Amino acid sequence: MTKLAGKVAVITGGNSGIGLATAQLFKENGAIVITNARNEQRLAETKEQFPNLFADIIQADVSKAEEISAFFKAIGDKYQKIDALFLNAGLGVPAPLDQVTEEQFDYEFDVNVKGVFFSVQKALPYLKEGASVILNTSIVNQKGMPGFSVYSATKAAVRSFARTLSAELVGRGIRVNAVSPGPIETPFFSKTGMSEEQINEVAQGILQGIPLGRFGKAKEVANYVLFLASDDSSFMVGTEVEVDGGMATL
Ligand SMILES: NC(=O)c1ccc[n+]([C@@H]2O[C@H](COP(=O)([O-])OP(=O)(O)OC[C@H]3O[C@@H](n4cnc5c(N)ncnc54)[C@H](OP(=O)(O)O)[C@@H]3O)[C@@H](O)[C@H]2O)c1
Repeated sequence: MTKLAGKVAVITGGNSGIGLATAQLFKENGAIVITNARNEQRLAETKEQFPNLFADIIQADVSKAEEISAFFKAIGDKYQKIDALFLNAGLGVPAPLDQVTEEQFDYEFDVNVKGVFFSVQKALPYLKEGASVILNTSIVNQKGMPGFSVYSATKAAVRSFARTLSAELVGRGIRVNAVSPGPIETPFFSKTGMSEEQINEVAQGILQGIPLGRFGKAKEVANYVLFLASDDSSFMVGTEVEVDGGMATL
């Protein structure tokens, strides 16, 4: 279990859900793992909750380009390189078309799209030949699900980045790929503002559409992210693979 021995791995949103499962798997595989926390309170909570998991936890809200810039500069100054970069931080606020506000629209795009784009840009000075960048999109980028118009559009932009940024960076020996999770058991839905009853109702509806008949586990996404981060995927660039129990394709 040393697929990432001595590698410097940066995961955004590493304190929860898919990012956390990936951080644990990366650490088990020998990586030095660094993450962010979106504000001072989350920073303190993350440090207390995971005293041995992360080599560094740095405050950075990925919706703000200047905070992203400071985050990567701090990492670059200390480690001089980034071998694996998992851009995972993201959120979604489901709402029907007539209830979406401009503020909500901008915030989802700021976190999910601007956050990913400027993270790659600001990390670039430290991404060396052989580095692997992994973007977390979602199968909603190819499905028309009611209530998810803004979120799905943000994830379609991320899917696009997997291809365009690959084309820009492949000449420098940097691989960019995407993982596209289906419904995964994480705190994602509890942060949407929906009540527990609403979450259960939505979950029941989603369940009907998953051919494997269950939600996925964060570890099942992390397993694939580890593959992309390691040299096992050395001939893969610009790809997007669904980890979704068959939901997008069957
Ligand atoms: N769960 C699913 O079914 C599913 C399916 C497809 C794709 N995804 C994608 O997977 C990724 C991880 O989601 P998850 O399901 O693991 O949910 P999660 O447990 O809520 O994790 C999201 C992570 O992103 C962080 N984050 C959110 N906004 C941020 C900001 N402005 N600045 C910095 N960090 C921020 C969160 O920090 P806090 O803990 O402080 O909020 C958290 O660490 C997201 O991009 C999501 O869109 C999830």
